[in-house]
Amino acid sequence: MNSTTATAAPPVPGRDIDPGFVAAYRRDGFVHVPGVISPERAARYAEGALRVAHDHTPFQDGAVFTQLVNAYRVSPVLAELTRDPWLGQVAEALAGVPLRIWHDQVLIKQPHNGAATEFHQDAPYWPHRGSRHALSAWVALVDVPVERGCMTFLPGSQNRTDLRAQDLTDAEDLFRVAPDLVWSRRVTIPLRAGDCTFHNAYTGHGATPNLTDDPRIAHVVIYVDAEASYSGAPHVVTDPLGLEVGAVLPDEHFPPVAAF
Ligand code: SIN
Ligand code: NI
Repeated sequence: MNSTTATAAPPVPGRDIDPGFVAAYRRDGFVHVPGVISPERAARYAEGALRVAHDHTPFQDGAVFTQLVNAYRVSPVLAELTRDPWLGQVAEALAGVPLRIWHDQVLIKQPHNGAATEFHQDAPYWPHRGSRHALSAWVALVDVPVERGCMTFLPGSQNRTDLRAQDLTDAEDLFRVAPDLVWSRRVTIPLRAGDCTFHNAYTGHGATPNLTDDPRIAHVVIYVDAEASYSGAPHVVTDPLGLEVGAVLPDEHFPPVAAF
């Protein structure tokens, strides 16, 4: 065990969250939580995710992944995970501000999909104004070894809040806008079913291709500052809602963690 893990015990329900764990997240822009849900719950949600993918048209269904957004609105099973109070509590401790759900995503990398998710930041894609923090909980619903498409992070890259949106199908794009990141450490985190990572929306990250015979099934719960407002930029989640530019994201569509 190295000194980082020794001082950064992962959170356990019913106990205070270790300040060292929060500090590690704030330093690196990501953190690993083994066993955030039980393997039994992960298996149930994996089945729920496959059902949603079968019954609904994905927002994206390409080489990189099959992506369904706002799965919690159509799947009571996945809503249990998206609205999980413990996951939300950990997210708020990391963010240091009250949060709301921005949206969730079922992300399936099909067997032998042949494509990495290339390095990118999430925040530049999103139509938020005045957000003090946004982050994702990437929950593995099946075992995700490196060969099945696990995540890799660029520690410290969350401090680069000035970059344009990057193309996650282009291996060069993030490094084109931030050439110094070519030399960044890369931290790859295989996850067991029920483990998760949290990452800051500005942390550069990608995922390996799925070289295995089984689908990689992840559920990503994405949180944003409860006080963030709508910028008016195009986005699949907000485009149909007719929101007022400059208004705080409405609770009706973006449930506050405090209400879980
Ligand atoms: C992936 O799961 O392949 C990528 C997830 C992300 O970009 O947050
Ligand atoms: Ni991403």
